[in-house]
Amino acid sequence: MGKLLKITIIGVFLALLGERIVHFIHRINLGREIEPIELPNCQLLDGIEHGSEDIEILPNGLAFISSGLKYPGMFSFAPNRPGEIFLLDLNDKKLRPSSLRISRGFDVSTFSPHGLSIYIDESGDTVYLFVVNHPHISKSTVEIFKFDDDENVLVHLKTIKHASLHSVNDVVAVGPESFYATNDHYFNDFFLRSVGMFLGLRWTNVMYYSPSDVREVATGFYSANGMAMSTDKRFIYVADVSGKTINVFEKHANWSLSPVKVVQMETLLDNLSVDPVTGDIWTAAHPNGFKVFMYNAEDPPGSEVIRVQNIHSDNPVVTTIYANNGSVLQASTCAVIWEGNLLVGTIFHKALHCKLE
Ligand SMILES: *[C@@H]1O[C@H](CO)[C@@H](O)[C@H](O)[C@H]1NC(C)=O
Ligand SMILES: *[C@@H]1O[C@H](CO)[C@@H](O)[C@H](O)[C@H]1NC(C)=O
Repeated sequence: MGKLLKITIIGVFLALLGERIVHFIHRINLGREIEPIELPNCQLLDGIEHGSEDIEILPNGLAFISSGLKYPGMFSFAPNRPGEIFLLDLNDKKLRPSSLRISRGFDVSTFSPHGLSIYIDESGDTVYLFVVNHPHISKSTVEIFKFDDDENVLVHLKTIKHASLHSVNDVVAVGPESFYATNDHYFNDFFLRSVGMFLGLRWTNVMYYSPSDVREVATGFYSANGMAMSTDKRFIYVADVSGKTINVFEKHANWSLSPVKVVQMETLLDNLSVDPVTGDIWTAAHPNGFKVFMYNAEDPPGSEVIRVQNIHSDNPVVTTIYANNGSVLQASTCAVIWEGNLLVGTIFHKALHCKLE
């Protein structure tokens, strides 16, 4: 090969690499700092010290909080402590979360709960809690529990594993055994996934799962993460964390999804939830993705809570409701609303309750 050709090839390679690095820095908001926005009536929840990755609230004000996620590449204050699900009654002013008992036969020692979703059957009597679990590094299952509210116990019903559910992040339950899940297409290996993320490959998707039908229903996300369903159940919202977008899909009778619109944000959205009364989307986000992956107690990752109103209109209104540099709350993942109560969860840190005006 001629010397000139070699130099040209190396030059092109370096230019491409440089372009990918710039793209990556932009996607993870490296170096971004935030202005604090405070809320008046907030308190940290007692007893939650090792994460509150996802939060789901029942119509009666009982909140489920997943805690103790162990995930490759993610910091943890208690790497050897099994995960748990807390129950918090928002009607009780004391706001005391308690760790829920899980029925015998389920291996709690390897429990690493991630996304949650609630499904209430048509009679309204049975509450199913779907929990994304990572019982081993590089392994994902979806655990289905029934919530027994007399005994305050989660009764384990079923473990769902499937070859095409490699690496699940979040679920939206749409039946007693069926759900949508955000998922990594090809890799459950953290290193390969990180390389994919660095290169900006859109390697994650949304799967539909039922016992008789498993298929991909949406694809092309950098890093599909949180998901939620509109109050009228017609739309599914998917957060692309490193694409910094909310993706709106219409849901069809055969469970397929068709894209409606994409709303670009400035921050790295983690989980989405929908205000049951107004239909607004609430999300917590990572102001700076680099600080989440490279945890430094001296300069911790911060938290941001965002509200998106009128997402279906031509001009959705995006408002930052709360922003903190990590001095109070680190690495927020979800923001959930119930009757003027705001709960904010985090990957590995505490959980915040605020009474909204
Ligand atoms: C995001 O939130 C949804 C719904 O609130 C939950 O089901 C999911 O597990 C969460 N996922 C992550 C990655 O936090
Ligand atoms: C975070 O903000 C607090 C007060 O709001 C300030 O005292 C602290 O120095 C800030 N920390 C960092 C790492 O910037």
